[in-house]
Amino acid sequence: MRILYFTGKGGTGKSVVSALTALRLAEYGHRTILVSSDPAHSIRDVLNGEVGRDPTKITSNFYAINIDPVLEAARHYSVILDYIASVFKARGIDEILAYEIASLPGMTGIATMLKLDMLAATEEYDVIVIDTVPSGEALRYLYVPAIMGKISRRFMKIIYPLADIGKIFEPVVGIPAPSKDIIKREIELLEMIERVRGYLVNPDITSIRLVANPDSFSIANTRRTYIQASIYGLNTDLIIMNKILPEEVTDPFFHEWLDGQSRYINEAVNSFKPVPIKFLRLFKKELKGLSQLRLAADELYGDEDPIKIYHKGDLINIEREDDYLIIKYPTPFLSKKDLEIERIGDELIIHLYTDAGPIDLVVPLPTITFKMNIVKAKLMNRYLYIYFKGDQG
Ligand SMILES: Nc1ncnc2c1ncn2[C@@H]1O[C@H](COP(=O)(O)OP(=O)(O)OP(=O)(O)O)[C@@H](O)[C@H]1O
Ligand SMILES: [Mg+2]
Repeated sequence: MRILYFTGKGGTGKSVVSALTALRLAEYGHRTILVSSDPAHSIRDVLNGEVGRDPTKITSNFYAINIDPVLEAARHYSVILDYIASVFKARGIDEILAYEIASLPGMTGIATMLKLDMLAATEEYDVIVIDTVPSGEALRYLYVPAIMGKISRRFMKIIYPLADIGKIFEPVVGIPAPSKDIIKREIELLEMIERVRGYLVNPDITSIRLVANPDSFSIANTRRTYIQASIYGLNTDLIIMNKILPEEVTDPFFHEWLDGQSRYINEAVNSFKPVPIKFLRLFKKELKGLSQLRLAADELYGDEDPIKIYHKGDLINIEREDDYLIIKYPTPFLSKKDLEIERIGDELIIHLYTDAGPIDLVVPLPTITFKMNIVKAKLMNRYLYIYFKGDQG
């Protein structure tokens, strides 16, 4: 199975590019499903047809589904959410506020990921193509499984002893005991999260494809996403530069646009190296309907099968050297920029000040480092090296 995850700034062409990719995949005989969580029903517009909450057949081998993240979150979380809220309510906190506090970060995002788990489990699809919502931080949803896993585990630590001594405990601290059902759900959720994480960080399964336009904002955004993806161990295998003004445009009005465009294309080629870039021109009108999408797919992919892995980059590495344990993070965009590292519990917070603006990265530390101290960090040849040394008190 393959998962192709398209992301990029709003309006760059994520829906169009993911739809034309799905169409091309289906034409190659791969059983393909296009997943969208955009409440604006952009997939319907792009495909020129209704797409339901269940897999809807578009054409041979090509299915599409429109998911409602809020609905999904409610389905998966309501039992747990009710319980957490009841804990706060028992402490005299107002109900509305109790639900606000109880709601876990990224809940709707993780719901999308859980849908992915369900689709994968059906084994009915060879490729799952994900079209993301127009959010600057859409990729954040991909990190949620890792973060959620952590929260979940912490939550379990609280919940388990309560469940064991249940009723005895209750009158003492005034916390309602969780039911068996809650614990069962929580375990299921944890397992799903772990599974999805497994898919996402496997470069043979998941490819991140970044859709950009030749303008400064979009390229900066794409860089940022690429850095984050690479540090979180997600493999970006292709950049798609969409809406390229064709050379046939000679109207003087567009001269500066054309100039800027070739500058940005160069810049992109340099900064994303060695990740390959494909280009798609701006068409004369909006790309809508299967025949238009087919035309654009021809231009973008030629006779290539988009299921292929276009590039496999470095992931996070752990090495040993003398007394040191070195964690090597690929940071392809960073040169000698300012960098601060802070360790909070079992996580490393890396504050980066990049050309693309400040970025905070949360990197979970491997268990082996728990009893170690960070002794130094350096940035070299596009890698961030963090040196740990054993516990010396
Ligand atoms: N290469 C192209 N040529 C002409 N029109 C294009 C091209 N790519 C995208 N479009 C048009 O640009 C608009 C935005 O495209 P699309 O909806 O795919 O972007 P998006 O990134 O999914 O947007 P959102 O962030 O809102 O989800 C649409 O009207 C689409 O038809
Ligand atoms: Mg879209």
